[in-house]
Amino acid sequence: MDYGLIYEVLSMTSLRTIGFFDSGVGGLSVMKEVRRLLPAEDLVYFADSAHCPYGSRPVEIIRGRAYAICDFLIGHGVKLIVIASNTTSVAALDAVREKYSVPVIGVEPAVKPAAAATVNGKIGVIATGVTLAGERFDSLVKRFGEGLEVFTQPCPGLVEIVESGRWDNEETEKLVGGYLNKLLDRGVDTVILGCTHYPFLRPVIEKLAGRGIKVIDGGEGIARQVARVLDNECLAADAKSAGGESFFTSGDPELVAPVLRLLWGKPDLQVKKKEV
Ligand code: DGL
Repeated sequence: MDYGLIYEVLSMTSLRTIGFFDSGVGGLSVMKEVRRLLPAEDLVYFADSAHCPYGSRPVEIIRGRAYAICDFLIGHGVKLIVIASNTTSVAALDAVREKYSVPVIGVEPAVKPAAAATVNGKIGVIATGVTLAGERFDSLVKRFGEGLEVFTQPCPGLVEIVESGRWDNEETEKLVGGYLNKLLDRGVDTVILGCTHYPFLRPVIEKLAGRGIKVIDGGEGIARQVARVLDNECLAADAKSAGGESFFTSGDPELVAPVLRLLWGKPDLQVKKKEV
């Protein structure tokens, strides 16, 4: 009997990895928090760069992309999927949960922590149009934003800026400043980053928002939820070994790799092309 082959097949098929995906590089802001909390886990990231941005696409298209990417991740042997995209969670979380047997975690604007943080009861949310228009967002505000004033602001263009890997410039400040001012004019003291791309713009956002404005994202909370689900399902990795990461994109790896390297902080990170 070829035990080497059996071991190889078993290790290929045993469920060891956590899968993440987003329209592009934004979901790395969530995966970073998971890496911080769970150093032993193997992580795989799929950037759907060929179809980025999702934020202005019909929900049916986004759902179709989610299915295609999840098929790939399941084939890759993932034990849990994180939809590291607010937009995709609105469009496809329920559908994906229904289709696949592994646990699936979605993300949503961090209204609950923002409700705890605000002093004057006025909260601003920046996100994509799809995220803000969804029923899911309304119900989130109903559940956690009771008695608060919640103002929303879609931010076309910000995802593209993060995807370009260049935001230390005047055009970015102008665009971000324009969106923020609409919320600040309403008197908000707390701003939620309701798109996983935006935490990478946090330094610009905090600088323009000024002191006294709290800027909140949901990455840490998602990481804690991932840890909880892994524990509950007895899926957590052996804490003794350090986990690795692998990266795939539907776009051009030559263009995507430098941005992933910058955001993940690993100059030798490799990205493989995968059309799904
Ligand atoms: N980063 C995603 C989100 O959280 C998707 C943004 C987009 O592609 O428009 O919504």
